[in-house]
Amino acid sequence: MRKIIKNGTIVTAADTFKADILIENGVVSQIGKNLSTSDAEVIDVEGHYVFPGGVDPHTHLEMPFGGTVTKDDFETGTIAAAFGGTTTVIDFCLTNKGEPLKDAINTWHGKSNGKAVIDYGFHLMIGEVNDDVLAELPSVIENEGITSFKVFMAYKNVLQADDETLFQTLVAAKDLGALVMVHAENGDVIDYLVKKALKEGNTDPIYHALTRPSEIEGEATERAAVFTGLAESQIYIVHVTCEEAARKIAEAREKGIDIWGETCQQYLVLDQTYLERENFEGAKYVWSPPLREKWHQDVLWKALKNGQLHTVGSDQCSFDFNGQKDLGRNDFSKIPNGGPNIEDRISIMFSEGVKKGKITLNQFVDITSTRAAKLFGLYPKKGTIAVGADADIVIFDPNMERIISAETHHMAVDYSAYEGMKVTGEPVSVLSRGEFVVRDKKFVGKIGSGQYLKRAKYGENYEAENKTYTM
Ligand code: URP
Ligand code: ZN
Ligand code: ZN
Repeated sequence: MRKIIKNGTIVTAADTFKADILIENGVVSQIGKNLSTSDAEVIDVEGHYVFPGGVDPHTHLEMPFGGTVTKDDFETGTIAAAFGGTTTVIDFCLTNKGEPLKDAINTWHGKSNGKAVIDYGFHLMIGEVNDDVLAELPSVIENEGITSFKVFMAYKNVLQADDETLFQTLVAAKDLGALVMVHAENGDVIDYLVKKALKEGNTDPIYHALTRPSEIEGEATERAAVFTGLAESQIYIVHVTCEEAARKIAEAREKGIDIWGETCQQYLVLDQTYLERENFEGAKYVWSPPLREKWHQDVLWKALKNGQLHTVGSDQCSFDFNGQKDLGRNDFSKIPNGGPNIEDRISIMFSEGVKKGKITLNQFVDITSTRAAKLFGLYPKKGTIAVGADADIVIFDPNMERIISAETHHMAVDYSAYEGMKVTGEPVSVLSRGEFVVRDKKFVGKIGSGQYLKRAKYGENYEAENKTYTM
């Protein structure tokens, strides 16, 4: 059935204007004043903003990690994402050395197919580069539409790749048209500092932060940037937490290196003191890179404001406090790294960013949706409200208040990292390809309705298969 969203204020990365939206066959077919058709359902959203659905470029759903598996899977994770105003996620497909990439990708299809309630794509982890991997990469791009690779510079003996692998990945990505994503921390130095701390009897969660200093995030960011320049390739630094890394990205951009930076809402509103909480509660805030001293928050907000950082991902990687985080009760290095963030990304960015004047409304849309769609080959199908785009739409009440709590959130995890925080501005209803997934704060979606997204190459616009539009 056709739908008209009436009387809302449409906000894109570029414009803010009052208009109606006609939705037909899951796409936006008209935008204009006083639209009317006899057979359309009319949804009056007077007093609300109408945003393009959020694009979360950084999630870990049902991912084996730290001796356990993340609690939210593609069902609970995408339901929570939808409640939070996100209509597309790009999840990290892990690979194992020696395993064909195709098998790893099929494992991820198995986790997501029939479960997701919003559309999703995959990034592919590269842990080694050899002839077999190089032979498979063209098919990963052409057949799977996976146009971003992830290299970990940390998690020694688990996920960490060496510098040669990172450099070779950058070279291959340049030729293939893929964007390389990097977790930038010096894993070797961390490994030494962790062993030293444990030897000295320092086992509490706070030592997670103290053994991963911001300087080595800056060092790894600079190293990745230098490699990118040498390879004349392109890179996206995930989860930037600190002044050092933000500065290295800005300096590299000034030199003309094709480098992009993502931060996450947790680094903008939480700080290192959370890891000092008593009764092992600090474990709830153990993720990597760690939370930093509070002054870094100001640097990150300013970098988003002035365009030195470009996106905010959630780094959703949820573990229960009871039964998962407590694997590290006597040894901080055994606490599974990660937190529950997917649901609150957009509310926090609006409440703390727009309402407090740190970013503009249009920047908010760019940072939470449009820019990720552009960088990861989904624009303009995703990430904007335009004729021909998917009708992934968030109807947002800018004045509605909510106290964030595990009691009311939709993630499967037993705590909230933002427990008790008041946010102003909430998604009320959310549509994916023209169908309500959340309506008036209630889930009305269909499990498995989310579609897998084959993405365009880096720097290219998404073109719908039926070629209904091009940019
Ligand atoms: O602690 C985190 N961030 N866990 C997820 C894996 C990663 O490094 O992004
Ligand atoms: Zn990471
Ligand atoms: Zn992550």
